[in-house]
Amino acid sequence: MNAGYAQHLEWVEKRRAQLEEKLATLFSVPAVLTLEIGCGHGHWLADFAVSFPEKQCLGVDLIGDRIERAQKKVERAGATNARFVRGEAFEVLDLMPSHVRLNEVFILFPDPWPKKRHWKNRLFSVKFLSELAKRCASGVRCHFRTDHGPYFDWAEQVIAEQDVWEPEGNFEWPFERETVFQNRADSYQSLVVVKR
Ligand SMILES: C[S@@+](CC[C@H](N)C(=O)[O-])C[C@H]1O[C@@H](n2cnc3c(N)ncnc32)[C@H](O)[C@@H]1O
Repeated sequence: MNAGYAQHLEWVEKRRAQLEEKLATLFSVPAVLTLEIGCGHGHWLADFAVSFPEKQCLGVDLIGDRIERAQKKVERAGATNARFVRGEAFEVLDLMPSHVRLNEVFILFPDPWPKKRHWKNRLFSVKFLSELAKRCASGVRCHFRTDHGPYFDWAEQVIAEQDVWEPEGNFEWPFERETVFQNRADSYQSLVVVKR
């Protein structure tokens, strides 16, 4: 192993350890969460948390600056039931304490990765649904919304390729608030899958 790669592995391990510690601190007792992945600046989840004070919410995003702004937003709104963590979706699902479960999940306008060679980066995938399922009881819903037609078609195909989650036919979107990307979109499509 060359020195550069060893250093990279060390950095990844350190980052994972910090994330694990942060999640353990935030959720020191059993919790059932509403999770938003790719929450950006937190507009949607902050409003959601204010509207549903009985629900514990967690917003996750890769970008630290967005997470800081999201946290401030929710504090300004006076909501104490939403937390935001900088992290990658798969790592957060992997590193959350085992007593943390999910009771609903939102993925709103995820990065569409339009170029074919980048499709492998799309969050919504068979692998993702499989990891997500480990944290969810039967009946939990995952809500997906995108303004990118090919990503929507991809998501439908992903659902068809696995049997842990099933599409919900006539669903009602549980909470409407424009996200930053929704505000910019000419149109969008939504789908909901339910854990079997
Ligand atoms: C196109 S933006 C949408 C933000 C927000 N949901 C909205 O609708 O305005 C996608 C967000 O997902 C975050 N993101 C992308 N991949 C992610 C991943 N694997 N884990 C966590 N966040 C991710 C990005 O940093 C970015 O903030």
